[in-house]
Amino acid sequence: MTRATSIVILGGTGDLARRKLAPSLCNLLRKGRLPPNASLVGFARADHTDDSYRELLWEGVRDLSGLGIARADWEALAPRVRYSRGDVDDPEAYRALGALLDEIEGGEDSDRLFYLSIAPHLHGAAARGLSGAGLASEERGWRRFVFEKPFGKDEQSARELNRTVHEVFREEQVYRIDHYLGKETVQNLLVMRFANAIFEPLWNRNYIDNVQITAAETVDVADRAGYYDGSGVVRDMVQNHLLQLMCLVALEPPSSMDANALRERRADVLRAVRRWTPHEFRRHAVAGQYEGYLDEQGVAPDSRTPTYAAMRLYVDNWRWQGVPFYLRSGKALAEKVSEIVIQFKSPPLSMFPRSEEGVPPNVLAICIQPNEGMHLSFDTKTPDAGLVVEPVDMEFHYARSLPGEELQDAYERLLEDAMEGDASLFMRSDQIEQAWNIVDPLLQCWADPGSGGIEAYPRGSWGPPSGDALLAADGFHWRHLCLEE
Ligand code: BG6
Repeated sequence: MTRATSIVILGGTGDLARRKLAPSLCNLLRKGRLPPNASLVGFARADHTDDSYRELLWEGVRDLSGLGIARADWEALAPRVRYSRGDVDDPEAYRALGALLDEIEGGEDSDRLFYLSIAPHLHGAAARGLSGAGLASEERGWRRFVFEKPFGKDEQSARELNRTVHEVFREEQVYRIDHYLGKETVQNLLVMRFANAIFEPLWNRNYIDNVQITAAETVDVADRAGYYDGSGVVRDMVQNHLLQLMCLVALEPPSSMDANALRERRADVLRAVRRWTPHEFRRHAVAGQYEGYLDEQGVAPDSRTPTYAAMRLYVDNWRWQGVPFYLRSGKALAEKVSEIVIQFKSPPLSMFPRSEEGVPPNVLAICIQPNEGMHLSFDTKTPDAGLVVEPVDMEFHYARSLPGEELQDAYERLLEDAMEGDASLFMRSDQIEQAWNIVDPLLQCWADPGSGGIEAYPRGSWGPPSGDALLAADGFHWRHLCLEE
């Protein structure tokens, strides 16, 4: 008989479990990519029977996942689902969890994946609790621990958490999630850069003028205000997702696609990012808050939490010296779009008549979501107009070019990788600390009421005008190729 695999979700009744994790497991089972003897155990404080817990998960799979999972696919997973009630602080709860796992696995050797989908301040307690109950010991199979972000709330707390985690788990047992790394289009960045010889020779300061990374959302903080107000856009999106996207754009070719080689190259980028002081960040970053944020339930009436950030960063190495990387993210913005725009330098001499702006620069846009794909904007002759130059767009979209190919959900991919022990798309402890080291001065800058304002912006806009002025000061503007159909 195949060895059992147990997947335990701490925070098993939470939004992530219902919206992402249970649906991903359903899909993996449907595709035959879940280990044959896999089961799912939810661990949380609420009172549930196995049946009522199954019902809760099914509602999430049906109503929240947006994946259109059929009831029949859920019913294949449902009998493998169990529930263990417990408090993260209670050592007894972990012993009960261990006993339930032994019962499910028939006391045989087994592999176990623990997914910590709980509030970040509980990460340390959960790590100690699991280890205290002997659940980290690998004598009878592997034991892996997936940490949902945010990992710490600044560099110091991340270092402390890493210390606690390393006291009880080996680094190889720890999988720190940044779900952006699990997105197909984000992984495609590596393929695009290193499988196509046409891009790499141009991929440097000699040909690239600037890089723009946007993760814009139309949603506001809604019912997450309690979490969000203590976090803000820098902790929620920039320290993790945006910096990781930047790493994949900027990294040097790894010696192989193995986890260590890839993670080392990503860490190199973070190490090379120029550190701004809090004072310097005043010139290189813009904070915004959408109008009405202060009225959200759970938000402090005088909250200075930014819901929008835009910044200018530099990567101080030979490849990127002097090339600005603009990062931007916000809630309640005009469109839901995540894209990376690479703007190339203009030709050295404009030989063609056009408007005063000269020949439009070539632009490559990687559409992370929605409408996943790529656009390349290049110049062409306007028909019947002499040598007048116009930019045109060449597009690739997965949906059109590879119809019928399902884009795997990020969580599905990451769960599968964690079960297979492939850590390439997960964050190493030093990467997390480096990323905090970059943004900590920004957090300090904006925490200081004397640092200048957090600008209000209307819902449904592209953020405060200063976000545009940041690029205009360098002669650029935000580009949106992925939105143009
Ligand atoms: C999460 C943030 O990590 O990413 C959320 O906590 C945000 O605030 C989400 O909405 C965005 O993810 P995606 O995949 O929809 O771009």
